[in-house]
Amino acid sequence: MLRRFSISLEDNLLETFDGYIQSHKYNNRSEAIRDLIRKSFVKKEWEADHMVMGVITLVYDHHQHQLQEKVTEVQHDYHHHIVSTTHVHMDHHNCLEVIIVRGKALEVQELADRLISLRGVRDGNLAMSSTGKSLH
Ligand code: NI
Repeated sequence: MLRRFSISLEDNLLETFDGYIQSHKYNNRSEAIRDLIRKSFVKKEWEADHMVMGVITLVYDHHQHQLQEKVTEVQHDYHHHIVSTTHVHMDHHNCLEVIIVRGKALEVQELADRLISLRGVRDGNLAMSSTGKSLH
């Protein structure tokens, strides 16, 4: 069931919000507000160390000395957190590795940080989604 309530906003904030609605193709303000609220709750759970699933993306040059070994070694240290790993040979030098992970948000973040900070990793990213389950 949907319930209505009203929100008061300053002019300029409302203008910015309407711009956001347009660029994100929302049909109306309510839809956009609902999405923003949900997103902020997901972020909060994430921060509160709940169970998450995540995708780590790495781009690196496999010619970098021992980098391939280190990427593998770190993943073995966190083998309980790793659901699957896909390695794509992008071109002569570059590899793309996409790692699907699950676990406590802080540990998943830690794993991503260790991989992304390895010397020779050109680009790294972690995207997380809450499973909605709490460990507490
Ligand atoms: Ni490769």
